[in-house]
Amino acid sequence: MSDNVKPIPLIIDCDPGQDDAIALMLAMASPGELDLLGVSAVAGNVPLALTEANARSIRDVAGRPEIPVYAGCPRPMVKVLETAEYVHGKSGIDGANLPQPSRPVEQAHAVDWLIDILRRAETPITLATLGPLTNVAMAIVMAPDIVENISELVLMGGALSLGNITPSAEFNIYSDPHAAHIIFESGLKLTMIGLDVTHQARANPARLEAIRAIGNPASNSVAGMLDFYGAQYIATFGEGAPLHDPCVIAYIIRPDLFTGQDMRVDIEIGSPLTIGRTVCDLHDRAGRPANTHVVETIDSDGFFDLLNESLTRLPGIN
Ligand code: RIB
Ligand code: CA
Repeated sequence: MSDNVKPIPLIIDCDPGQDDAIALMLAMASPGELDLLGVSAVAGNVPLALTEANARSIRDVAGRPEIPVYAGCPRPMVKVLETAEYVHGKSGIDGANLPQPSRPVEQAHAVDWLIDILRRAETPITLATLGPLTNVAMAIVMAPDIVENISELVLMGGALSLGNITPSAEFNIYSDPHAAHIIFESGLKLTMIGLDVTHQARANPARLEAIRAIGNPASNSVAGMLDFYGAQYIATFGEGAPLHDPCVIAYIIRPDLFTGQDMRVDIEIGSPLTIGRTVCDLHDRAGRPANTHVVETIDSDGFFDLLNESLTRLPGIN
């Protein structure tokens, strides 16, 4: 990024999760590009008590303990919480091997914080969502005026093709389809990074060994998480670990690594068979106005180069 460009004001909402954790490290290692104002945690991969604690452990190993972490919603808006320990392990970041967090979670509820910081923002803030959309949707329901201070919402979620938690739905959208419906109807500038893209960003053995070779505490933690998460993915899906959530942060830093197109996306909330499906009108068959920039390709090698460069910048063994 050129020297005279100001860092992008950013809020990350997440459900760590190994891939969320790596996304947080990528963001925290990029202060020249991103002004990370805070992190909000939501229930998703594992319960909220774990996702918020995991986020606090990650900020320690990334050498950014000053970044505030807020706990948000402990369950989806309507559906019951369905977690994913079969992929992420009981802790949510199995393999990370991190100490307990050094600082407490913030007192304010994440939804109240989101409303307050967005209402006070002097310049619009970019939101990156890496888990179910419950926190952001609740904030918009409670304070619709905050939409004007959100410059863009870049989400990991959905798919043009098959789902992962069901044949038709991706986990983040499926977990809280009603929240996703609110977001996709909100009028926000949306960029959707779905499974079609993230499945192109798999940490194959050569890429994993390049990360392991960096040798600082953060990269050691990433390698440990990918050892675990990759094995779970192979056992469940037959292929190695896709770095879903880091693709969102990489897109915000280096959109040139990606391609996509605008189209109408609607969320199925009625059908028991396909609930949580992102219905992407690629060929404009319904004639409804486009509401989302759907990303379709990634320069995978460029993405891993960016990730490795970022991890190398994180604190060494003190
Ligand atoms: O479907 C993948 C998404 O669900 C990722 O964000 C992963 O962390 C889980 O939250
Ligand atoms: Ca996630």
